[in-house]
Amino acid sequence: MIKIKKRWEIPEAEVTPEALYRRRREFIKTAGTIGGALLLNPWAAARASLEIGDYRKKVISIDDEITDEDDATSYNNFYEFGTGKEDPKRNSKRFRTDDWTITVGGECEKPATYGLEDLFRPFPIEERIYRLRCVEAWSMVIPWLGVPLGSILKGFQPTSKAKYVAFKTLHDPVRMPGQQRSVLNWPYREGLTIAEAIHPLTLLSVGMYGKTMPNQNGAPVRLVVPWKYGFKSIKSIVGIEFTEARPPTSWNLASSSEYGFYSNVNPEVDHPRWSQKRERRIGEIFKRDTLMFNGYEAEVAGLYDDLDLVVNF
Ligand code: MTE
Repeated sequence: MIKIKKRWEIPEAEVTPEALYRRRREFIKTAGTIGGALLLNPWAAARASLEIGDYRKKVISIDDEITDEDDATSYNNFYEFGTGKEDPKRNSKRFRTDDWTITVGGECEKPATYGLEDLFRPFPIEERIYRLRCVEAWSMVIPWLGVPLGSILKGFQPTSKAKYVAFKTLHDPVRMPGQQRSVLNWPYREGLTIAEAIHPLTLLSVGMYGKTMPNQNGAPVRLVVPWKYGFKSIKSIVGIEFTEARPPTSWNLASSSEYGFYSNVNPEVDHPRWSQKRERRIGEIFKRDTLMFNGYEAEVAGLYDDLDLVVNF
């Protein structure tokens, strides 16, 4: 049997032989001294934290220069921690993501609440260098670490009624102070068609730049859909639901004339308030042309053969 390589796949030789995803259970014992006796704090919780071990380097890559790590981790959109670009880094410093779970439901045979480690353990972690194009007309190139979303979704055994996949961010205004203001209808929600969700480019990401996902970039787990505007790549996911009907999504609810359900990067369809023809790549001086499907047209255009991309923006 001949396996035909997709053009974005990297030759096997450039892939590290074994990919391991290490988990680390860190038991924090808080010691206190009362009357000279050393006591173990009975309430000290066992913390499970995700650690990136070995991973398959550059499984999918592009020639564009990678954005400076400092830029990618200090210029963010994460409204749960504030609406300014520098707010997420500053305001998420104490955000704890230990013992994170994702609740899976809807049209599938295996609805349950899953620990993050359990979801990722069966799969090698891959590094994928993707363009990220924000609807605000700036862009970056980021080396993500993660697992194809389709591999993980398969385990939940979606039924034939599952036409869409809906995602939900944590809703906790104490831990996410930006949610104390109603800038969006919380929790942040996103959705994909099932075909988009299982497309090999769609990544469920737990890290970037060889490290665990920084809080401001969507710790501990976020979506990365490189051919769509960045807001589809929902951060800090706690819920996945398979649905028969198209699920409501946050930005579409906020302004349906500006943010469509599909939100594929398309230089021919302007935002009502600005052009989408060009973009500012963070770290560069001159603007560059925005590419159809953010440069992933060869891989994903087939998903939309029957759609008018102007009407279904
Ligand atoms: N996810 C949640 N939960 N909240 C957000 O505000 N912002 C989106 C997306 N995911 C956002 C989110 C937008 S507009 C973009 S451009 C990307 O995250 C930015 O990802 P980055 O900060 O890692 O570059």
